[in-house]
Amino acid sequence: MKKILITGGAGYIGSHTAVSLLEAGFEPIIVDNFSNSNKSVLKGLKAILGRDIACYEGDCNERGLMELIFAENQFSGVIHFAAFKAVGESTQFPLKYYANNIDSLLILLETMAKFGVKDLVFSSSCTVYGQPDELPVSESTPRKEAESPYGNSKKICEDILRDYINSGVDSRIISLRYFNPVGAHPSGEIGELPLGIPNNLVPFITQSAAGIRQQLTVFGDDYNTPDGSCVRDYIHVMDLADAHVKALEFLFRQNLNFYDIFNVGTGKGNTVLEVIKTFEKVSKKALNYKIGPRRPGDIEKVWANTHKINSELGWMAKYSLEDSLRDSWNWQQKLGLRE
Ligand code: UFG
Repeated sequence: MKKILITGGAGYIGSHTAVSLLEAGFEPIIVDNFSNSNKSVLKGLKAILGRDIACYEGDCNERGLMELIFAENQFSGVIHFAAFKAVGESTQFPLKYYANNIDSLLILLETMAKFGVKDLVFSSSCTVYGQPDELPVSESTPRKEAESPYGNSKKICEDILRDYINSGVDSRIISLRYFNPVGAHPSGEIGELPLGIPNNLVPFITQSAAGIRQQLTVFGDDYNTPDGSCVRDYIHVMDLADAHVKALEFLFRQNLNFYDIFNVGTGKGNTVLEVIKTFEKVSKKALNYKIGPRRPGDIEKVWANTHKINSELGWMAKYSLEDSLRDSWNWQQKLGLRE
């Protein structure tokens, strides 16, 4: 079995990708410092897969650790998820974000080169588009100035990867620009585990429905959208996980010295109020919510043009928004039973 290193593999997207990789016949190996994840994820993976997944505990910024991991394993490829991702926190601690997100990529690229590992899938974000001038937004749309140090760190990492390939190295790299990941594994064994008060919409919704949060606030209903609330492209995390497998398999078929970028979204936009109504329908629970002021830095509307990933990687989102919210709610309920 081809071994694939998943940095940040205990995190939300990484853990679901471990499932998809194993099911596609790869051997996932995780490295994670558990700074924003919990060891219970490994138990969840075992419950789904019926076996343990190898996991190194440690920081991708530690070159010595990364070299040890590469020396112990002959990897066929790497998926680099490990990063800090809280937009608000990044504006308070920009150096922390730049150091962590950029250094870990540099160390990873150098370690891959040293050990002759050629294939990399990198986690980027639709945040690099800012508020696009045209919708749906495609990969060729010029990126805008980043709204946050977090967003800028993703933009810089994309540039590093492009420059690295332009230098003529024998590597093959894809950046995946994720839209808004939601949902959980349908088993409810793994899902998103936000620390403290969630910043993101869906965890806040499920925690409100579970009685952990008193009231959900809709950040603005005076945007230029069908019902005034912001529009996003919500993609089920299992679809997103599958896109990583497709990206890796695609890379293995390319000539060396290759770089490309793909949007990973459903191609459909939904407003915040539509997400709330859909959640109420699938959970049969009424949400306590109010309309509040706009959240600073929010983009009014963004959704993906998915033509490139559909045609070149043969990948298409399979899950609906209803499926995503049902799985998020199932996960939240199982989490409640566990505690
Ligand atoms: N929202 C609310 N109430 C909440 C939380 C969110 O109304 O309590 C709204 C937001 O205003 C936004 C939408 O729900 O309109 C989605 O917000 P999220 O915070 O879930 O997601 P964002 O689109 O703001 O951010 C996500 C990722 C970021 C990434 C960004 C752009 O969380 O990491 O997409 O790619 F930078």
